[in-house]
Amino acid sequence: LGVHEPYVRSFVRKTPNWPREGVTFLDISSLLADVRALRHCIDSLAERYGGGHLTHIAGIDARGFTLGCALAYRLNCGFIMIRKAGKLPPGDDESSSLVSEEYEMEYGRGQLQVPADLFESSSVTTPRVLLVDDLLATGGTACAACNLLRNAGATIVEVAVLIELSSPEICGRRRLKEDAYIDLHSLLCFSEDGT
Ligand code: PRP
Repeated sequence: LGVHEPYVRSFVRKTPNWPREGVTFLDISSLLADVRALRHCIDSLAERYGGGHLTHIAGIDARGFTLGCALAYRLNCGFIMIRKAGKLPPGDDESSSLVSEEYEMEYGRGQLQVPADLFESSSVTTPRVLLVDDLLATGGTACAACNLLRNAGATIVEVAVLIELSSPEICGRRRLKEDAYIDLHSLLCFSEDGT
């Protein structure tokens, strides 16, 4: 983001102790609503990935759809929606079934899904995908998304997030590297208390 970082950063709204005590919630609603902040983010990502020969951008349900789809349009790529379980119909034959990947959440397990034939109907035979999300904390969601995309036939180039949250206990960047062998690019870094 360079010189624009303080400007973009000022639009990240912090709510301490929500959704639970000790956690600071970081919200990008105001950032997306400001045209300059939004453009700085998309421009910065487009500059980094413009020469990357990407075929698709993938975004994680739901906040990952916002930046991801704007970037896909800008880079002339297709866009992949990685849905949370229960959002897509299961399908009644093999050609319309889903690929699923489980991940750990604070309470219990979540599941991400894409259609199994995601790439079959497109002209792209070797999908090169950038995974985009608004925020990376533990990295559990992004790791699951990488596994899911690989199982659907894609090569993952990198993971890019607007906000990287880290603390002595939380290091999603390391988890992504160790568990999914993928590098992380983040536009903003915050510590767990929102600073
Ligand atoms: C948030 C965020 C990431 C994930 C990061 O999504 O958008 O997808 O959590 O957490 P992790 O790195 O610890 O896995 P959330 O599940 O809150 O969904 P939302 O985008 O629908 O708000």
